[in-house]
This record gives sequence, C-alpha cells and structure tokens, in this order.
Amino acid sequence: MIDIKQIKEFARKNLDELNYMHTKNVVKIALALAEKEGADKEVVEIAAWLHDIGKSDKNSTPINHHSLGVKIAEDLLNKLQADTQKTKEICHIIEAHMGPPCKFWLSELKKVGRTFDFPRPNAKEAKIIYDADMIDLFSPFGIAKLIYLRTKSGKDFLDSIEGAKDSAFAAYNDLQTRSGREFGEKYFKAAEEFFEKIEGT
Ligand SMILES: [Fe+2]
Ligand SMILES: [Fe+2]
Repeated sequence: MIDIKQIKEFARKNLDELNYMHTKNVVKIALALAEKEGADKEVVEIAAWLHDIGKSDKNSTPINHHSLGVKIAEDLLNKLQADTQKTKEICHIIEAHMGPPCKFWLSELKKVGRTFDFPRPNAKEAKIIYDADMIDLFSPFGIAKLIYLRTKSGKDFLDSIEGAKDSAFAAYNDLQTRSGREFGEKYFKAAEEFFEKIEGT
C-alpha cells in the first residue's frame, strides 16, 4: 500500500496554486470515473495527484511536462517503496495524459518541428486520468484558466477566447471512456452555452 497522504502532500508542496487547484479537481473527477469503470482506485488516485507534477520542474515547457513528470513520480514512488508494477502503470498514465491534437498543441509542436506524437493512453486507468484532465479543461474553472493563461502569455483577449474554445471542443471530442462522456456532458453543454453567449454579444 502506498501512503496517498504523502503523495498528496508532495503535490501540494511542489505545484503552484493554479496547478494544485486543477490537480484537486482531476483527483475528484478521476475517482468518480474509476468507481463507474471498475478501475484500480489506488493507481488512479496516485496518478491523478502526480499527472502534472512535471510542471514543478524549472525546465518544464508546454510540450515536455509529461516526461519530466514521469521522472519525478518514479523517484518519489521508489523512495516510498511502491510496488514496481504499480509504479510502471502510474508512469504510463503520466506519460500518456497529453492531448488532444488541437490547434494549441499543433502550433507548440510545429515550433520544434514535431507533429502530435505524444503517447496515447492504453490502460483503463490511463484513459480515466486522460478524461478527468480533459473534463476539468472544459469545466468553468478550466475555461477561465485557459483564457487567463493565454492572455498572460501575450495573446490578445479575443484570440485567447477562441483558443480556449478550440481546446475545450477538442478535449470533449477526444474523451476515451463512456463514463467520461457521461460525466463531461453537463460541463460541455455549459461550455458551449458560454461560448455561444460570448459570440452572440
Ligand atoms: Fe498536463
Ligand atoms: Fe492536468
């Protein structure tokens, strides 16, 4: 058994406020999906707490936080003497949580001559974390965060809204589990309405 309290504390100490808030939402959604999908809840919860831990590395960029996160998680889990198989599963989940191939990713990757080549989620638990991360992305918190981060990076306000819409729609269309699609539906409807109202003004 891995002490989840220590994992949570590690995430709280190392992530900034915005990423910690997002991570807490992902844990909550992922556990609800794990229950419905009959998945390994221990693996799901640990992976949810650590999925964005790569963002705590000073060398983190939008296109590498998954691989940086794998290294940090592996070190931590080895230190906590976690089961080797579980560590492997958690590392796959972290590595495969990037996506979907929307305009944002395509332009970030194009800058370094890549196309959308991130590993995709294979295991049930990996699909659950992927979906929980995507659902939080098109939730009210996620959309506010996307618009904030894009304007902060220097994009103009309307472009930031358009970019957030593109990411939100791509995320909804790429959900991997049935429970994710059911759970995400009400958030997505609210997101659609939000963008329609903005466009209608
Ligand atoms: Fe991430
Ligand atoms: Fe995330």
